Amino acid sequence: MADSSQPVPPAPADVEATQATSGGQKIDPWNVSGEVGEDGKVKAIDYHKLTNEFGTSLIDDKLLERWEKVTGHKPHRFMRRQIVFSHRDLSLILDRYEKNEPFYLYTGRGPSSDSMHVGHTQVFDFVKWLQDVLDVPLIIMLTDDEKFLFSEKRTVEEVIGYSKTNAMDIIAIGFDPKKTFIFSDFEYVGGAFYRNIVRFSKRVTYNTAKAIFGFDGSSNIGKIHFASIQGATAFATSFPHIFGADEKRVAGIPCLIPCAIDQDPYFRLTRDAAYGLRYAKPSLIHMRFLDALQGPGSKMSASDANSAIFLSDTPKQIKTKINKYAFSGGQETLEEHRELGGNPDVDVAYQYLQFMMDDDEELARLNREYRSGELLTGEMKNVCIEHLQKYVTGFQERRAKVNEDVVNEFMATRPLEWAGNPNVPRADLVVPVKAEGGESKEGGEVGDGKLSKNAQKKLLKEQKLAQQKAEKEAAKAATHASS
Ligand code: TRP
Repeated sequence: MADSSQPVPPAPADVEATQATSGGQKIDPWNVSGEVGEDGKVKAIDYHKLTNEFGTSLIDDKLLERWEKVTGHKPHRFMRRQIVFSHRDLSLILDRYEKNEPFYLYTGRGPSSDSMHVGHTQVFDFVKWLQDVLDVPLIIMLTDDEKFLFSEKRTVEEVIGYSKTNAMDIIAIGFDPKKTFIFSDFEYVGGAFYRNIVRFSKRVTYNTAKAIFGFDGSSNIGKIHFASIQGATAFATSFPHIFGADEKRVAGIPCLIPCAIDQDPYFRLTRDAAYGLRYAKPSLIHMRFLDALQGPGSKMSASDANSAIFLSDTPKQIKTKINKYAFSGGQETLEEHRELGGNPDVDVAYQYLQFMMDDDEELARLNREYRSGELLTGEMKNVCIEHLQKYVTGFQERRAKVNEDVVNEFMATRPLEWAGNPNVPRADLVVPVKAEGGESKEGGEVGDGKLSKNAQKKLLKEQKLAQQKAEKEAAKAATHASS
């Protein structure tokens, strides 16, 4: 099986980068803040510096051109505007799409409260677009266990409750139920997934976890172990009901992880574990944060009502919040603004429009006219309010249609249906990954990449069996819980 007990081969460079703390800004899974300047003010987050510290690559024009050529779709506005600004091995995913070899999308959310805000939905909006464009399976992980372990006061029951309500919010983004599997850790850990979690944990020492995440002797051991759970979701063999139970074949299926940049440390570690386990390494695309209303340098926070626009806000609340709290890049007085112009780079209303307004030319016009002083802060805010109101109302309409049955459908352990690249027949035979420098223990046949009729039947049977098994286990768990 994939977990050899041999020592891990020397890790590639990924793991060496540690926490980004230099230069004053602090970005890790639990902290996001810009550098504090000499004037005591928080500066905007320097995303370029982050790519250097983390050792990721910037998404450049060449990569975007290739994206368009391979997928036939103009890059999403987030890609055009460097909101999705950095990646690891995105080109490997494009290689696979070109040949219609399987891969999947993986993203997640830590369900920490019932009140999701528009900062939370941005990655998911982008992921929905990716799913529409690429037509591949999407796996969404709800880390309720993480939110329990990393909080002093939350109870297990509480975070499980948030998983349900957050799943409803996520479904309202508009994902396709045929291609999307949402799971909560408390529900899904077990079986093939747990086997990968344990294989993963065996490959990570306390010292590495400490170096990457900054744990110390007083950190509870659940926190230290949690990386194995978030990481094991990046391995296709954790999902036999989707990819089949033949570990040898499935081990080579990679995923593409769209996430906010603060999650990168988890996946740096995952890429190294994958290497040791002879699993395909996950690719990543990183997104920057939606600023808090108070300005760049911090992100929206669910625990600070005035920092964020919530998905439950009314049009009136949105208007009041933007007018009252949105940090302005304009000048103090009308005269000064007309004379000196404003700064859209720090103007929160403009920043939100960068995320929400699809029209490049209109956005460029707002930018130009704000800088020249022609456009006033109030006018920029009005455009922003309009867009936000439409966004949140649209969300609320879709959310109203999501009921318990819909949630159960998305969270059921079942096969998914997808076609991938419409121009190329689907290739399902996955060549096992060979560890660089080491011999592949897996061996495995190298074929033409196509799945024979018989192999297709076999895969379907495997998926069905895995599904039945999961259903039985779930039923058993349910009787236990109620007895
Ligand atoms: N740890 C993330 C959070 O707290 C949730 C998460 C799990 C995630 N897996 C992911 C986010 C993959 C992005 C991509 O929100």
